[in-house]
Amino acid sequence: MNAVLELREVHTFIGSFHILKGVSFAVQPGSLTVLLGRNGAGKTTTLRTIMGLWSAAEGSIRFLGEELRGRPTYEIAAMGIGYVPEHRAIFRSLTVEENLRLAERRRGDLARRADWIFSLFPDLKAALRKPAGLLSGGQQQMLAIARALVPENRILLIDEPSEGLAPMLVKQVMAAIHRLREEMPILLVEQNFHAIRQLADRYILMEDGRVIRSGPMTELVGNPGLLQRYLGVVI
Ligand SMILES: Nc1ncnc2c1ncn2[C@@H]1O[C@H](COP(=O)(O)OP(=O)(O)OP(=O)(O)O)[C@@H](O)[C@H]1O
Ligand SMILES: [Mg+2]
Repeated sequence: MNAVLELREVHTFIGSFHILKGVSFAVQPGSLTVLLGRNGAGKTTTLRTIMGLWSAAEGSIRFLGEELRGRPTYEIAAMGIGYVPEHRAIFRSLTVEENLRLAERRRGDLARRADWIFSLFPDLKAALRKPAGLLSGGQQQMLAIARALVPENRILLIDEPSEGLAPMLVKQVMAAIHRLREEMPILLVEQNFHAIRQLADRYILMEDGRVIRSGPMTELVGNPGLLQRYLGVVI
């Protein structure tokens, strides 16, 4: 099977710090792949490097067979990569509708996909005219994800959607991601192992800027030693 997204031996420096030290992995079509690892492992840096927000010093990043390395971020996004950054980059003083409209890549994107987006996130439809800053944390996260669905995308990269949310809201957000997985492959960064253990198809485990292991999620769930050692998770 041809991977949708494939990283090979990617190295990234931030200033003089060598952060990604040869990251390689693939995201397969139709899969929800979770990128796991402790704080500072390099998960966010990996997503930012894919998007061209940090430039890779070495290696290759291929999306649907095309090399991304060296391209500017706007071009990478326009190739069909939806990125939902950490800390929900929404405009709090703008309404939900204005936030969605600003995410259009082509005129009419929102009109074309509104029914689908609101079927995934009915709360957003009810709050269209509300300033986004007045939404609950869970609704703001849903808006951040919805923004990535407005233009036509072929993959989604989502960074820690459960961060700072109450358990009920984590469930809601994860249920939406589960439904989205039917539509397009997803690369999800998540620290909350329990929230995604049933959801993800495959895992990539990072430590200190390297991928130390990857495989089917069932393999990780069945390996308490690995979970405890690299994620501090006890099951
Ligand atoms: N802007 C920056 N300037 C300097 N160092 C940075 C910067 N961003 C990240 N780093 C460093 O790069 C390493 C990887 O950080 P990164 O944010 O990718 O980790 P992460 O796995 O996403 O962690 P977390 O779970 O805390 O979000 C860390 O050591 C971090 O301190
Ligand atoms: Mg991070």
